Amino acid sequence: MSHNDLDNASGHPDRDLVARDLVMTYGKGRSGGQSGPPALGGVDLIIRSGQSLAVMGPSGSGKTTLLHVLAGILRPTGGQVLWRGRDIARMSDRERTVLRRKDFGFVFQQGMLLPELPAIENVALPLMLDGTSRSQATARAATLFAPLGLSGFEKRRPGELSGGQAQRVAIARALVARPGVVFADEPTGALDQTTSGEVMRHLTELTAHTGASLVVVTHDENVAAWCHGVVRVRDGRVVEHSAQAAR
Ligand SMILES: Nc1ncnc2c1ncn2[C@@H]1O[C@H](COP(=O)(O)OP(=O)(O)O)[C@@H](O)[C@H]1O
Ligand SMILES: [Mg+2]
Repeated sequence: MSHNDLDNASGHPDRDLVARDLVMTYGKGRSGGQSGPPALGGVDLIIRSGQSLAVMGPSGSGKTTLLHVLAGILRPTGGQVLWRGRDIARMSDRERTVLRRKDFGFVFQQGMLLPELPAIENVALPLMLDGTSRSQATARAATLFAPLGLSGFEKRRPGELSGGQAQRVAIARALVARPGVVFADEPTGALDQTTSGEVMRHLTELTAHTGASLVVVTHDENVAAWCHGVVRVRDGRVVEHSAQAAR
């Protein structure tokens, strides 16, 4: 995909996640604050509905900042993030919280599972926090274990899982509320190559199966190879955006 595709109206603006001229300057506005160069210096990006996109770049290039702005965790200093036609940067904090709970799912480098809860309850928790009954939430969570190769691991606590199993539980948790977009920041950063490939296979298969888009920040070309597209970031700017045949 070339940069010109950003001007091409052929997507689905109602279903894509669209970033327009995103600027992020940390510390701006603080009295006497000496702000350095912007962490994002004007990023345009389209994450098409149902597609997966890898965000690559050296440490400090702005990958995590971009992910957090796209996901409504950080409010950009400038520009827009349009989700289903609405600018999430202009939503109230309450609206953005609901959005992050219902429309977006998250996978972090270290699963961030709650150590005292069995796997199934870790997966069911986002639904329960949103008002779904325990029995319904648990039933929905249970459906995700087999497709992730986790049958029989429902009652294990995170400390009783391998790193790859824990990341698959984290994938289940990210998908349990049927999000439109899953955001993953270095989801395989703590795993060996074989386990990393298994986690990416599950992540890309399950998001594709549910129709969710996927944004993966990674250092690893092997991880990026699982995605439909790759964006390369340098100093807060997109320097390359290419499409590829995902595995
Ligand atoms: N909370 C923060 N406050 C101030 N500067 C930050 C903060 N987070 C990141 N930065 C700076 O923004 C730039 C991009 O960081 P980041 O998005 O974390 O890059 P990456 O994920 O590619 O390593 C870096 O220069 C970093 O030091
Ligand atoms: Mg980062």
